[in-house]
Amino acid sequence: SRTAAVIPAAGRGVRLGPGAPKALRALGGTPMLIHAVRAMAASRAVSLVVVVAPPDGASEVKNLIDGHALPERTDYVVVPGGATRQESVKLGLDAVPDDISVVLVHDAARPLVPVDTVDAVIEAVRDGAPAVVPALPLADTVKEVEPGEPGVPEPVLSTPVRARLRAVQTPQGFDRETLVRAHGSVAVDGEGATDDAGMVERLGSTVVVVPGHEEAFKVTRPLDLVLAEAVLARRRA
Ligand code: CTP
Ligand code: MG
Repeated sequence: SRTAAVIPAAGRGVRLGPGAPKALRALGGTPMLIHAVRAMAASRAVSLVVVVAPPDGASEVKNLIDGHALPERTDYVVVPGGATRQESVKLGLDAVPDDISVVLVHDAARPLVPVDTVDAVIEAVRDGAPAVVPALPLADTVKEVEPGEPGVPEPVLSTPVRARLRAVQTPQGFDRETLVRAHGSVAVDGEGATDDAGMVERLGSTVVVVPGHEEAFKVTRPLDLVLAEAVLARRRA
């Protein structure tokens, strides 16, 4: 069973602040996207990487990846992305050939995910789960609120039991047909779905969780870049 990894990298990175598209920002001197591609290619099971580039940046991204070494066994293609993550993933999925049976979807913004996590996700799909997400227990208690005007305190609606909650990461792994079905049946609404497994849940298919990893955190805000640089420096020490 061949495995492909789709890497949505078409976002602007608004929460990170002004600058280049987030996936092209440097981490330890190398663009975040290159780290993410290498993290997928590190798994011996992954034979194809589909990078979803900013809509007007596909050729730039292709040149960038051409200039960085990948394992011999790894093919890659670059396709232009869309206005939401959901659309970008769908465009990437459209470029996955028919002989692929397992698809990973991995955020370019999670450049440091360890290969053991990638392999654990793939293994769980191969063992029969239609959808697999790596996830970790939460450190913070979470409250559901009624969102209001900025500056006005928000009423709390409920406090879910923390021990039952998980923060989900990527790569999420799917039986290819299940993911194609999900993306074909869930319309893009507003910002679109931020989680592919959630779309599979809406179909009524089973989604299971495997242990995630602290180093699979998403680079979202400026402080996350500080942490990512520190993790890289520790690896290189
Ligand atoms: N993504 C994408 N296409 C979009 C929006 C997001 O491919 N239209 C990708 C991002 O490049 C990122 C992943 O989805 O790798 C997770 O999204 P997020 O962390 O929200 O990144 P951005 O959307 O770039 O950041 P922000 O929301 O702060 O603008
Ligand atoms: Mg976003």
